[in-house]
Amino acid sequence: MELHERAYAKLNLTLDVLGTRADGYHEMCMVMQSVSLCDEVSIRPGRGGMRVESNLRFLPTDGRNLAAMAAEAFYRALDGAAAQTAAPALDISIQKRIPVCAGLAGGSSDAAAVLRALNRTLEKPLSTERLAQIGREIGSDVPFCVGGGTALATGRGEELEALPALPDCAVVLCKPSFPISTPALFSMLDRVKLHCRPDTQGVLAALRAGDLAGVARRMYNVFEDVLPRREGAEVAAIKRTLIARGCLGASMSGSGPTVFALFDDEALAQQAAAELSREYQDVFLARPV
Ligand code: C5P
Repeated sequence: MELHERAYAKLNLTLDVLGTRADGYHEMCMVMQSVSLCDEVSIRPGRGGMRVESNLRFLPTDGRNLAAMAAEAFYRALDGAAAQTAAPALDISIQKRIPVCAGLAGGSSDAAAVLRALNRTLEKPLSTERLAQIGREIGSDVPFCVGGGTALATGRGEELEALPALPDCAVVLCKPSFPISTPALFSMLDRVKLHCRPDTQGVLAALRAGDLAGVARRMYNVFEDVLPRREGAEVAAIKRTLIARGCLGASMSGSGPTVFALFDDEALAQQAAAELSREYQDVFLARPV
């Protein structure tokens, strides 16, 4: 048996933080979109426990890897659903293409792909909702990554409502090389008063109307406001390049630092990607999925 599953990257068409919660997390309101940039996850029987290997040497290979956590959590949940034996030993192999620590939910998407693949091979004993519920213990973005598509995410990010699909378009993604600390950015947000918020209702109306330009011009991410000065300037410069190259709108994804833009013209998107590739290593062309 060898299972193969694609793990798609996630973009935030909007990201708003509404406040803090009693559990220490933040109350979110985000329009999420999966795109064709993906990791390839393969699973086969192993010789001891859950092992993960990938083309990135620095990723954990043991139970600290979200993909291994997902496999363990899947078999624990199965144990509750039916009389099932202990988790088998599995070797999980991940061909990483989604950059890590990038705001693209790559690790969460790998975990979600493991949940889907294991469930499929056992002829789907668990519903998609149950897989999403298992996923929320692994990370706030995992529930979205289980189903993908276009969705409104609230609560910690795990309360999902399916939305009309984003109209097909060309997407350019560009990850600058500076690191970002998600908890540090959240605590910065706790200390400032936000002056600008995304027009989430406007984005929802534009999605219902199939209005790509209407979505793109309303995209916004409140984390952009609290980036350290130099990093904020770099994100703004990438956005300016994308806008000068004719995108319909550009924003940062998640807690960054990846910047993305939507184009209704593939050739313009290719030119923008080519220009950014001269300065940045992690530049990708994708489409919504
Ligand atoms: O859930 P996940 O492990 O992806 O979250 C990473 C970190 O981001 C958390 O430890 C927390 O600091 C922050 N976070 C938050 N509120 C959320 C999601 C994440 O404060 N809704």
